[in-house]
Amino acid sequence: MKIILITGISRGIGKALAEKYLAEGHIVIGTSINGKIDFEHENLTVYKLDLSKPRSILKCIKKIIKSGIKIDIMHNNAGALFDDEETHVIVDKLQRTLMVNLIGTIDFTEQIIKTIRDDGHIVNTSSSAGSLTETDMKDALTSHFPFHYPAYKISKAAINMYTRTLAMRLEHEKTGVTVSSVHPGWVKTDMGGNDAPVLPSEAAADIYKLALSKPETGQFWFKGQKYPW
Ligand SMILES: NC(=O)c1ccc[n+]([C@@H]2O[C@H](COP(=O)([O-])OP(=O)(O)OC[C@H]3O[C@@H](n4cnc5c(N)ncnc54)[C@H](OP(=O)(O)O)[C@@H]3O)[C@@H](O)[C@H]2O)c1
Repeated sequence: MKIILITGISRGIGKALAEKYLAEGHIVIGTSINGKIDFEHENLTVYKLDLSKPRSILKCIKKIIKSGIKIDIMHNNAGALFDDEETHVIVDKLQRTLMVNLIGTIDFTEQIIKTIRDDGHIVNTSSSAGSLTETDMKDALTSHFPFHYPAYKISKAAINMYTRTLAMRLEHEKTGVTVSSVHPGWVKTDMGGNDAPVLPSEAAADIYKLALSKPETGQFWFKGQKYPW
């Protein structure tokens, strides 16, 4: 039985991931922006977290630290897509996107790191949209929209670099903590839309398998295989 922290379990992939861990007998600490979700479980605790607000991050961290738990696996799953198929960077949207997908996610991770076990795993949910080498192929988002959603793509490319640098730092500090980026596929959620071919439960099953394995640190994964950066 492991202790799992997942951001953004109110819907989509995060909800499916929480349900998968709970069904397999693990303990889940989840978050949502208003601190509420529409399901309950005896092994589930939910905290309020808005990654765009540093005070909300601090409050959530304090509660987790106060609870005295040690985390085995942390999923930075929560994410936001503010672009509306635009092709130009709209600075306000870029700032809002980066606050959630990058800066808030990093702030939260850096503050929680001391509660992660030495053999733990930090899994950053990235996207093929953040891959520099795959902007012209692979899935619908990137192949049909090669220069669309720039703010979202920039945020996911940047979180990949965080995965890489954090992995190297933790290796240097000899902590044994693994850090991974994962692409979940194009998933039928509020963000992915109804045309997406992958169900949240299918994406969650792949991510669950990766998270519980002890993969090479500092890599980008999709369905258990390395994905090009
Ligand atoms: N769906 C896809 O096809 C796809 C593809 C590649 C990557 N991804 C990535 O997979 C992850 C999950 O996506 P999804 O499709 O499940 O999205 P979703 O259905 O839109 O759910 C997003 C989740 O993130 C939370 N969230 C949003 N803004 C937040 C904020 N400011 N602070 C804290 N939590 C916030 C939401 O919480 P509330 O409900 O409380 O608002 C919700 O739980 C994201 O990182 C996304 O970028 C998705």
